[in-house]
Amino acid sequence: MKKLLISAIAFTLLGGAALSAMASPATDLKEFRAFFFKRFPGVPLQEYANGIYAIDKNRRLEWEAMEEFPPYEPAVDIGQELFEKFNLGKCFKNGGIGIRQNYPYFDAKAGKIHTLEGDLMACLKKNGVDTKKEKIGWKKGKLAAISAYMAYTSRGKKMNVVIPNDDRALAMYTRGKTHFYAKRGQLNFSCADCHVYNSGMMARTNLLSPALGHVSHFPVYRKKWEFAGKGALGGLGTIQRRYGGCNKQVRAKPFSFKKGQPAEYVALEYFHTFMSNGIKINAPGIRQ
Ligand code: HEC
Repeated sequence: MKKLLISAIAFTLLGGAALSAMASPATDLKEFRAFFFKRFPGVPLQEYANGIYAIDKNRRLEWEAMEEFPPYEPAVDIGQELFEKFNLGKCFKNGGIGIRQNYPYFDAKAGKIHTLEGDLMACLKKNGVDTKKEKIGWKKGKLAAISAYMAYTSRGKKMNVVIPNDDRALAMYTRGKTHFYAKRGQLNFSCADCHVYNSGMMARTNLLSPALGHVSHFPVYRKKWEFAGKGALGGLGTIQRRYGGCNKQVRAKPFSFKKGQPAEYVALEYFHTFMSNGIKINAPGIRQ
């Protein structure tokens, strides 16, 4: 395995391969995939749902062992109970079953992007649930469990995010894409520096996953989060929880959830999930 020094210098020679600023989303997706197919020959598209386990044999064996008794199962069960208790199916198409692949989506009437967690939160409020009293926050715990349950019912469906030809939708897509390629934090790294140009390399003790397929297994159950949290729900996190963690890795300040999901992360999720289009959902995934 090649070693990557976490230093800004390590990346300066690697620029130039970013998606062009003006290309259409469809062209972006084509180029994004082509980059990884060339970088990891022989790894088929569907395998990218598995992050680092698609590209490292030893880690894959450990992961397959974890999947034999999936530690996220109790959390998915809790998610289902909450989904039913709060009557959340009524806010969604098909009663909320098997629909995760369509999120996030652009709502032309309201002119905004909907994330699954955003729609869940809106539905809880609509159903009169006191989210403060129930201790339902944005990034982990109960909301992540409900989202994980809904994703679980969508396993096997291909991610299918639509970017319509509407200036407002394209503006959000471009904002997300810009976040993904922009350098940030004291370490001055972009998402793409780690998860595109240096995917498959080591950052300290971590193998860097390819960004292709990143979202198809979210929410994710992490060992690290489980040990830090309480009970079955502690280990689960939404994709936006992960964004905050990866912002911190480069010593950038994560965006605040005080007023709900930050628009910056909603835009990033829109772009980032679109890049997983065509990959089958296998959420919740399990990671270290
Ligand atoms: C300094 C390098 C670095 C940067 C910059 C970085 N990450 Fe990460 N990221 C990691 C490491 C290390 C992990 C854990 C190993 C892995 O799965 O890649 C990780 C994990 C992830 C995962 C989980 C992968 C999985 O399979 O579950 C996602 C999603 C992710 N990063 C997204 C992002 C996004 C989006 C950005 C930009 C906001 C970003 N990262 C910036 C290092 C980085």
